[in-house]
Amino acid sequence: MKRTAVVTAGTASIGLETALGLAAAGFSVTVVGRDTDRAARAVGRINATDPAHPARFLSADLSSLDAVRALADRIGAEHAASGEPLTVLVNNLGAMFADRRELSGVEASFVLNHLSPYLLTELLLPTLTSGAPSRIVNVTSGAVVAAKRVFDAVEPPGGYYGFHWYGRAKLANLAYTLDLAARLDGTGVSVFAADPGGAATDMTDGTMNDPKIVSPGLRLLWPLVRRTFARSTSGPASTAARSSVIAATDSTLTGRTGLVIGADTRPVAPPRTATDPRVTDAVRRLSEQYAPLVSA
Ligand SMILES: NC(=O)c1ccc[n+]([C@@H]2O[C@H](COP(=O)([O-])OP(=O)(O)OC[C@H]3O[C@@H](n4cnc5c(N)ncnc54)[C@H](OP(=O)(O)O)[C@@H]3O)[C@@H](O)[C@H]2O)c1
Repeated sequence: MKRTAVVTAGTASIGLETALGLAAAGFSVTVVGRDTDRAARAVGRINATDPAHPARFLSADLSSLDAVRALADRIGAEHAASGEPLTVLVNNLGAMFADRRELSGVEASFVLNHLSPYLLTELLLPTLTSGAPSRIVNVTSGAVVAAKRVFDAVEPPGGYYGFHWYGRAKLANLAYTLDLAARLDGTGVSVFAADPGGAATDMTDGTMNDPKIVSPGLRLLWPLVRRTFARSTSGPASTAARSSVIAATDSTLTGRTGLVIGADTRPVAPPRTATDPRVTDAVRRLSEQYAPLVSA
C-alpha cells in the first residue's frame, strides 16, 4: 500500500529535511509552502533522491485559517477519491517574531505555532482515522520552558517578548498534542510531538540576534543569552529533522502515542505544564474560539 505524508512548511529548512527523510523511507510526500520557486527546488531535490513515488507541492499560506480550511478540504477530498491513506501529517509550521504582529486580529505566533496546525489536524482527522494506522507529528520547541503559562486569553498581559510568546504558543500546541493523543487512543492514529533541538534556518536567522525577543530580566544577561541561542541554533536542519522523521516512521513507535520525541530522537518527558488539565482545558477553549472548524 502506498504511504503518503504531508509536511507543512516543507519547502525549506527543517521541513524540507523532514520531507527528504520521509521520501527516503518510502513515502509519497506532499510539501506545503508559499513560494513556488522555492517549492520547485524542494520538489526537485526530493525527487533527485529517486524516491519510490514522486513528491509534490501544494501552495497554501498557512497564516490564513481560511487557507488552512481550503487545504484540508483539498487533501481530504483527494484521499477520499483515491482511497489512498494519509499515513503521516507533520505539522512543521512555526514562526517567531521580534515585533508583535497580528493575523486577522490574533497575535501572529499563536496563529502560526498553534491555531493553524490545530485546525489542519482537526480537519484532517477523518482522513487520518480512515487511513489508520497513521501518525500525526507536531513540531515543538525547547522554548516551551520559557513560556508564560496562563491561557485565559490568546496573550498574557504585559509587553511583547517574541521568544516567550513563541514558547507559549508551542506550549499550547504541546498541551493540545498530548490531549489529542488521549482523545485518539485506540483509533490507530498515533500522535507525537517532535523537538528538533535547534538549527540555523530562516526562522532563527536574525530574529535570535535581537534582544527585544526576551524579557527585560533576560536582556540584562543578553551576551550570555545570545551566545546560548547562537550555540543551540548553529546545527544543520538535517540533524534537527531527525526527531520528526523518527516520530513519523520508527517501527518501535508502532502502537504507541502521546510521546515527545526529543532532539536526540528518544522519547523525553514533557514539561508538567503541558499535561496540566487546567492548561489543556484553557487551550481547547481558545482553539475552538479562535480557530472554528467552519469559517464564521
Ligand atoms: N530552527 C530552530 O532552531 C527550531 C528550534 C525549535 C523548534 N523549531 C520548529 O521547527 C519547525 C521548523 O522551523 P524552521 O526553523 O525550519 O522554520 P523556517 O526556516 O521558518 O521554515 C521555512 C519554511 O516555512 C514555510 N513557511 C513559512 N511561513 C509559512 C506560511 N505562512 N505558510 C506556509 N508555509 C510557510 C516556508 O515556505 P515559504 O518560503 O514558501 O513561505 C519554508 O518552507 C517550526 O515549527 C519551528 O518552530 C525550530
